[in-house]
Amino acid sequence: MDHLSTEYTGFPADVIPLQYQALLLTDERRMKAFADAIERAVRPGMHVLDLGAGTGVLSYFAARAGAVVTAIEREPRVFATARAALRSAVGDAVRIVHADARDYLPEEPVDLVLCEMLHVGLLRERQVEVMGAFKRRYLHHVGGPLPRFLPEACVQAVQPVEQDFTYMGYTVPAPVFQLPESRQPRTVEAAPPQVFQQFFWTEPLPARCAADLTFVAERPAVVNAVRLITKNLLTLTYEPSGSVDWTMNYLVVPVSEPVEVLTGDEVRVRFAYAPGDEIPALTDDLRVSVPAHAR
Ligand SMILES: C[S@@+](CC[C@H](N)C(=O)[O-])C[C@H]1O[C@@H](n2cnc3c(N)ncnc32)[C@H](O)[C@@H]1O
Repeated sequence: MDHLSTEYTGFPADVIPLQYQALLLTDERRMKAFADAIERAVRPGMHVLDLGAGTGVLSYFAARAGAVVTAIEREPRVFATARAALRSAVGDAVRIVHADARDYLPEEPVDLVLCEMLHVGLLRERQVEVMGAFKRRYLHHVGGPLPRFLPEACVQAVQPVEQDFTYMGYTVPAPVFQLPESRQPRTVEAAPPQVFQQFFWTEPLPARCAADLTFVAERPAVVNAVRLITKNLLTLTYEPSGSVDWTMNYLVVPVSEPVEVLTGDEVRVRFAYAPGDEIPALTDDLRVSVPAHAR
């Protein structure tokens, strides 16, 4: 969930109250990607675990593909709503448990774990913490091998941009979310994106999301922001060979000290924060500079 602050919802950032779950259900790019990925990854008879089930829609997709599903949700009203909706949609194919996914452990091995507690930049939500806790506990109590995960991998990129933060004559450098596939007339890309992090969820998980990258400006710009891009590789496919991906809404965040660049200038972008941190942890640490030797 990209765009709802704790202050606004009154809930911790990682808990999505019922009144905001429809924003997830009506996000067509997200829904289509997950429906497609689950249909490709799930086989009849599989045991699927859905961590952070929300309204239960991913569990529903898995049950529809023939899986027996255990779904975990922490927020009580969301849990109660999901339980009723799942029962009416798929009967007892999904067992939903009111629990914290960080503590929950299945009684028997599972084939596939669904987990969508994602935010662009891996900020705000607790996917890394929840998946890390699950893997440790599963290996200790159930043993290896680990189940397959959906999403399978995460790729994060960043690029320096000039962002128009002026609205009807009023300038407010505040973070902006953007739909990936749409034209962005307020954004000038100073340089193409570069990857700063990529990992599979089966691997040891990152303690930091950090970048120290040098870009070469493709056009003159006042770099006053960076754009963060998070692509989730939901599932690998083999016939045909490829993957089902979901690129989350981009996040454009202002930099405290903008720099002016000309075509061919180098621009250095640095930041570090922990997964699950709030957006200010990124913006407070973010530095954009033109290296002295490049001038
Ligand atoms: C981004 S929503 C996704 C919901 C659903 N999986 C979907 O795709 O529509 C993440 C859900 O995880 C729940 N959640 C967050 N932290 C949790 C935790 N520690 N244990 C169980 N559920 C959690 C939230 O309340 C929310 O419903």
